[in-house]
Amino acid sequence: MKFNISKICCIGAGYVGGPTMAVIANKCPHINFNVVDINQERIDKWNSDELSELPIFEPGLPEIIKETRGKNLHFSTNVDEEISKADMIFISVNTPTKKKGKGAGQASDLKWIEASARRISKHAKSNAIIVEKSTLPVKTAQTIKEILGVPDRNESNKKFYVLSNPEFLAEGTAIKDLENPDRVLIGGEDESPISALVEIYLHWVNPEKIITTNLWSSELSKLIANAFLAQRISSINSISALCETTGADINEVALAIGADKRIGKYFLNAGPGFGGSCFKKDILNLIYICNHYGLSEVSSYWQKVIDINNWQMERISNLIVEKLFGTIAGKKIGILGFSFKENTNDTRESPAIKICKDLIEEGANLHIFDPKVELKQISKDLGLDNSFSEAAYSEDGQWYYSESVIEAANDADALVIVTNWDIFKNLDWQEISKVMRKPSCVFDTRSVVNKVELRKYGIKVWSLGIGV
Ligand code: UDX
Ligand code: UDX
Repeated sequence: MKFNISKICCIGAGYVGGPTMAVIANKCPHINFNVVDINQERIDKWNSDELSELPIFEPGLPEIIKETRGKNLHFSTNVDEEISKADMIFISVNTPTKKKGKGAGQASDLKWIEASARRISKHAKSNAIIVEKSTLPVKTAQTIKEILGVPDRNESNKKFYVLSNPEFLAEGTAIKDLENPDRVLIGGEDESPISALVEIYLHWVNPEKIITTNLWSSELSKLIANAFLAQRISSINSISALCETTGADINEVALAIGADKRIGKYFLNAGPGFGGSCFKKDILNLIYICNHYGLSEVSSYWQKVIDINNWQMERISNLIVEKLFGTIAGKKIGILGFSFKENTNDTRESPAIKICKDLIEEGANLHIFDPKVELKQISKDLGLDNSFSEAAYSEDGQWYYSESVIEAANDADALVIVTNWDIFKNLDWQEISKVMRKPSCVFDTRSVVNKVELRKYGIKVWSLGIGV
């Protein structure tokens, strides 16, 4: 059967669905794209006239939205209606770790996937191609197919095709990653629907970069890609602790080992631990699958990647307390960066959350500055209001929202750089040193500051993977 794809619907206007559809729409002006979401507030932001009010911050995204929105890209909450018109339907809803019941704390919660599949089953037209974009446990396509009634259990005799097309974009570089992917992975069972999706990508992706596999290889490859990337970070982070105690410099070690082509130089930056919506969730999911199949050695191997990540965050907060003379109760500490990485306003699993909670628990008064994360998001993540006045400074531990680095630094005993935002690389340390309380300390968890310069202004510096 030959597919003619002129209308595409994407369920889920999040960090993945939004940018992905925007780029494909930009590359395929002959196809009409409708991104739908059950969250009206999110959709309103996608439709906002003010491009700075888009629900996610992603470099390059506003420009693409400007070119495509209202032409061949539309955002709405008309979920069922748009599903009914589409030739191809992407599922890009969130799949968080299950909070309760069987597999709680490890397995992915597929309730949104199931809800989407049920809507598709009811409203989509026959022969629609359903594409899994969300990262999913292996064999989820089977669940989707069962709900869709493929091939013959559906009363209305509708026929659907299910493909897996995981997205490998990283936040902060999503547009670049989508425009120039290392590879596009498409898993499926039938030749023609696979070809229909390949054809879409061929509008801008080199054919050699398009890998087609069976459904399960595609689903598993996405989980494993994330597990390998996270494992690399836990490996370098574990060595950062060793460097601090032996006098080696983690950046020099990373440079030396990364020069070996077999190891490669990317993804070797030691830091406060990996965050983001995917790494932890996907490894937990992998652990759950391994246990399910009785592979306990494999699951404990991957569990260690998560253990080291948690340990790294804990070790940083413990060290801050220790370096500030064993107590931070009542002290002001400026936190620079709250998002899980630079160039995004996403805070999911951000190491800043754990580090800030630990410091608040120790009684610190935190002043948090992030160029893109909003006050209400930080409140939500920390589970604490910041409705205190400065006069209410106490030793109970609390936090304030800072509008600038200098505000966070004013009278602070210490600054902690948690996120790798570019602006932290070029701060005016002379000015900052004047407003901080003495002795002043900077804890640099991302190797962004020039230690020699800071020391010149009388600031003590501790760098992750180097120490002092
Ligand atoms: C990502 C990836 O897509 C996924 O692979 C990973 O498993 C979790 O994170 P992301 O786009 O970052 O998803 O998630 P999010 O920003 O939370 O967006 C999901 C959107 O789906 C939300 O806006 C939510 O409102 C919407 N949604 C959810 C629906 O429209 N319908 C539903 O039934 C459920
Ligand atoms: C990741 C994968 O890279 C992407 O392919 C997948 O689709 C989704 O998950 P993302 O989580 O958006 O992307 O960002 P990524 O750049 O991978 O960073 C993840 C975390 O690792 C961040 O907290 C980042 O700061 C940290 N990190 C990354 C390091 O600590 N050191 C590094 O060298 C690289």
